Amino acid sequence: MIATVTMNPCIDKTLTIRGFSYGGLNRVQTKRSDFSGKGINVSIVLNQLGIPVRTFGINYTKNGQDFSKGLEALGIHYEAYMAEGAVRENIKVMNEEDRVTTELNQKGDPLDAETIRAFTDQLMEQLSDPEIDMAVITGSVPQGVPASFYRDLTAACRRIGKKVILDAEGELFLEGIQACPDVIKPNLYEFETAFGLENPSREEILRKAREIIDGGVGIICLSMGAEGAMIVGREGAWICPSDRIDVRSTQGAGDSMVAGMCVAMEKGLPLSEILRYGVIAADGSLIREGTQLCTRENFERFRKEVRVFRAD
Ligand SMILES: Nc1ncnc2c1ncn2[C@@H]1O[C@H](COP(=O)(O)OP(=O)(O)OP(=O)(O)O)[C@@H](O)[C@H]1O
Ligand SMILES: [Mg+2]
Repeated sequence: MIATVTMNPCIDKTLTIRGFSYGGLNRVQTKRSDFSGKGINVSIVLNQLGIPVRTFGINYTKNGQDFSKGLEALGIHYEAYMAEGAVRENIKVMNEEDRVTTELNQKGDPLDAETIRAFTDQLMEQLSDPEIDMAVITGSVPQGVPASFYRDLTAACRRIGKKVILDAEGELFLEGIQACPDVIKPNLYEFETAFGLENPSREEILRKAREIIDGGVGIICLSMGAEGAMIVGREGAWICPSDRIDVRSTQGAGDSMVAGMCVAMEKGLPLSEILRYGVIAADGSLIREGTQLCTRENFERFRKEVRVFRAD
């Protein structure tokens, strides 16, 4: 079974307005709240695809009960550690006139060393369930959590025989890959900034990816937004160009991709299919409005359409 870990949950508040006035009075037309977080998004997609998943992470004492209730309504049972503080709110202001969204993302309430230790103990206990064979470690972390956190967590998971899919950026990512996750899924920006590359050619990307694989990482899936995605493993490299023209929202595309990849891995499918399933799930989310993610129906539709090609 797949398990996801969310260190930095959030409540996405989407407000729509007509015509954005910077420094002026903006009247809100509609508002909605979504309970979210990177790992939680992966769980939501897996759940919508009918794949069993456990959802672990951090929750907070002040508004955590409402947060959990909101997730329960989506069919997600959040088995979280309760920390002091409140789940952060991210405000998204969508201008109906040009459909441009402005985001105001808060930092999570800080975690102290004792809380991090207690959370980690609980998490490792949860992940040691023999039913769980794969841990998805994804997203940012609250203040107070060291940059080595995902590296240590990845190493601990691997010690107890669990596969690890790591999707993080910056120092968390760079440190994390040192513990040799089975899969990493940076987007192009994250990949370029982590390795100091600028507009790399396909050859340069492949060279860097192979270097990372020689260092012990199993598979790299590089997502490139509208340019599609590439996967590199010991068996070779495949690419999936993206030709979606009916994109409604790119929110959660990367998280959906991770969920799709997990499905293929659980089925024991080859590298090319891990990429294909990832893109199928991403596409299934892209054609849905706002924060809505891939459904089983969308997955089945794109399963017939998405093609991958050898990249080496
Ligand atoms: N504008 C787009 N047009 C076509 N396909 C897209 C577009 N944006 C994303 N995709 C598809 O979704 C996949 C994942 O998207 P992206 O590379 O944006 O991930 P990400 O930056 O990790 O996203 P997230 O914000 O969810 O973390 C891409 O590899 C591509 O297949
Ligand atoms: Mg991402």
